[in-house]
Amino acid sequence: MKIRVTDQTGKEHELEGIEGWRVMEIIRDWGLPIKAECGGACSCATCHVYVDEDWMDRLVPATDEELEMLDTAPAVEDNSRLSCQILMSEALDGLHVTLAPGSE
Ligand code: FES
Repeated sequence: MKIRVTDQTGKEHELEGIEGWRVMEIIRDWGLPIKAECGGACSCATCHVYVDEDWMDRLVPATDEELEMLDTAPAVEDNSRLSCQILMSEALDGLHVTLAPGSE
């Protein structure tokens, strides 16, 4: 299964997704620039991504904890999510996200 990630320069990358991995871990471990300072503990907001509108409804909704942390991120939009809170699964094959300002 694949995910597509647009980096901060606008370049799109296709990355192999692994079931059960956090989207943040896939982005980080495949070498794209993402800070993800807290390592996935939902306590830094530096793994902020914009999710393609078509995919928003297919994700497990954000928890209150994620929404509170997102409030601290710059340039939050309706399609903002923390990529460490999105778990990869077959259902997300083809997911497209864009790295947000402040995540690099
Ligand atoms: Fe810190 Fe996602 S890595 S909130």
